[in-house]
Amino acid sequence: MKVKEVLHNVVLLDRNGRKILATKSRYAPHYGEKKYGEFREWMASRSKLAALILKEYVPEIKEDWKILYLGAASGTTVSHFADIVEKGVIFAVEYSAKPFSKFLELAMERKNIIPILANALQPWKYSGIVDKVDMIYQDVAHPEQVEIFERNADFFLKKRGEGLIMVKARSIDSTAEPKEVFTRVKQRLKSKFRVLAVIDLEPYHKDHVAIHIQR
Ligand SMILES: C[S@@+](CC[C@H](N)C(=O)[O-])C[C@H]1O[C@@H](n2cnc3c(N)ncnc32)[C@H](O)[C@@H]1O
Repeated sequence: MKVKEVLHNVVLLDRNGRKILATKSRYAPHYGEKKYGEFREWMASRSKLAALILKEYVPEIKEDWKILYLGAASGTTVSHFADIVEKGVIFAVEYSAKPFSKFLELAMERKNIIPILANALQPWKYSGIVDKVDMIYQDVAHPEQVEIFERNADFFLKKRGEGLIMVKARSIDSTAEPKEVFTRVKQRLKSKFRVLAVIDLEPYHKDHVAIHIQR
């Protein structure tokens, strides 16, 4: 098996010609993903960050970064993110109790995950827990996605800090063309941040883009 590192603890495995994205992890599988020795498979169909990396857009996330993660759900992507920022910390917000209970199991075994049960539209409610962060990662599939990002950036994003916003067109406007929605979102973000890239997540996630910004 050939192993190529693309980012800290993120590898592309070549198993007899089949390419597999994975993270180096000493932990057991969290959501039924396969383990190949010390690596946990990271499936693009289950994680927009994995899709982004497989589309060869690899944000330079450092191993000691502090991350604010909005929309943790049961922790699929957070589990891999925690492998990357092994010397940093992830403050992870989720407002739905059901996925949160599974997410808590993950947070209990990892020292670098701080789980927060809260509505991401109300950052002041967790401002006593969350530090200034190097990156905000957001995947909330909520009609007010941009508002949520801006409010959290105002509270927590460091100067020159970065944001990765996974935008789901249909959650914002189910009647407009996705392209039109993405243009609107980009224009709004441009008024406050430097937009570094907009990447379409097809074929892994239909009508989704990732927007990478810097403060
Ligand atoms: C697409 S899922 C996230 C999947 C997850 N990021 C992953 O890749 O493993 C979106 C999640 O955002 C949560 N969410 C939506 N609006 C939210 C809000 N205002 N505050 C906190 N969580 C929210 C939902 O409950 C849901 O669990």
